[in-house]
Amino acid sequence: MVSRVIPVDPFDLVLFGATGDLARRKILPALFHRFQIGQFSSNCRIIGASRSDLTAEAFRAQTADAIRRFGQDVETTPEEITAFTALLDYVAVDARGEAGWDVIHGKLREDCVRAFYLSVGPPLFPGIARRLSETGIATPDSRIVLEKPFGHDLASAQELNAALREHFEEQQIYRIDHYLGKETVQNLMALRFANSLFEPLWNSSHIDHVQITVAESIGIEGREEYYDKSGAMRDMVQNHLMQLLCLTAMEPPAQFTPNAVRDEKVKVIEALRPVPQENIARGQYRGKNGDGYRDHAGNAASRTESYIALKAEVANWRWAGTPFYLRTGKRLRERVSEIAVYFRDPPHNIFEGFGPVHGNVLVIRLQPDEGITLKTTIKDPGPGGMRLTGANLDMTFADELPESGRPQDAYERLIMDVIRGNQTLFMRGDEVEAAWAWADPIIAAWQDTGDAPQPYDSGSAGPDDSLLLIHRDGRRWRSIGE
Ligand code: BG6
Repeated sequence: MVSRVIPVDPFDLVLFGATGDLARRKILPALFHRFQIGQFSSNCRIIGASRSDLTAEAFRAQTADAIRRFGQDVETTPEEITAFTALLDYVAVDARGEAGWDVIHGKLREDCVRAFYLSVGPPLFPGIARRLSETGIATPDSRIVLEKPFGHDLASAQELNAALREHFEEQQIYRIDHYLGKETVQNLMALRFANSLFEPLWNSSHIDHVQITVAESIGIEGREEYYDKSGAMRDMVQNHLMQLLCLTAMEPPAQFTPNAVRDEKVKVIEALRPVPQENIARGQYRGKNGDGYRDHAGNAASRTESYIALKAEVANWRWAGTPFYLRTGKRLRERVSEIAVYFRDPPHNIFEGFGPVHGNVLVIRLQPDEGITLKTTIKDPGPGGMRLTGANLDMTFADELPESGRPQDAYERLIMDVIRGNQTLFMRGDEVEAAWAWADPIIAAWQDTGDAPQPYDSGSAGPDDSLLLIHRDGRRWRSIGE
């Protein structure tokens, strides 16, 4: 088989926050896997930077340990890990002071791609960006990568964008939403725009409604400080679910280029109607013996939602009359992320009395078992006359395309795109701001009323209010884990 791995140009990647949780769990293992499959040309280097006073040798050992613990489940030899860690260097740097910057500067080479990955808290973004620029470490071609959360409301996102733009051009700024790096999310674009079957039907004349679900079985343990200030709306809806909504609802871009794709996504966000409180259900998980949200948050009076469902409306020609129901929550029955597109029922049923005739449902599964299912109605095979029954046209990518190998972690693709200089799967500044402009009034409304989220049991499908939200419209949620 011809190798599909295209090596990237030589690079120097400086990873700020290199000893932190995200770097250890995701970023370094992702880099390792792309090294392992041969995507690094010779001459690539990763320079860890953080406050800790470590030697390069200690950082290499920590990274080897992180790869063994958090790497993908693929065969890995000790030699491969050693070869990878040989590319690592380390600098102790004071993000708020002067120490270490000249050392970083001295390590960077002139003739290769420079990328600065800020896997640190957002309050450090502006200071690091300024120092990178003022010390001359960042060149006009360098890339700066920022993790979410990108602001906690419109004003803070605007401030952050303005601070970054003092030192970097928009085409140098890579704002990560790791959902965009997931295979199936990219597949959604392929499904819509590389097939002629779906697009003619992709509008309110044929689609009754869309359900976007990101259900998690984990709680907030270990992240309570951040999470209790954010809640599900800021943590998941403003970014990940918003991206899924945009890719489902956007117009076909003229080309698959970063700005053409992002222009279309921004138009979707700007077409979203404000969401009245009656179209929102918020919940908070409860559990016995100190295992509820408030116990985990260490805040007995917390009003932060660990679950949210809402009905969004895209007010444009294509989607008027087709609601998008979004829901996400922690400590739910199962981990499921999917987009379910419900087509309208056939206009006339010639099979009265032969069984149910429903509209088709196209389910795009992000996780687990990435794939696509189309629910159809068929004749029940065999004797017994004309009886109708439901059947699935099912495609699990792992079965269909076994040569594509192990599942890719979203970070792998995204980091390689940074090196390639391709911003298609990164959020543009105006896109993030538009998403906050939509989310802010929703959050403000419940903050003003002081409404508390409705409790739901850990391991359930969410609060009762979320059922009412959709039953009221004569529709039902797909059951989580169906
Ligand atoms: C993160 C959120 O951005 O995404 C977490 O901050 C959430 O709260 C995570 O658990 C979900 O990502 P994934 O890839 O596991 O679905």
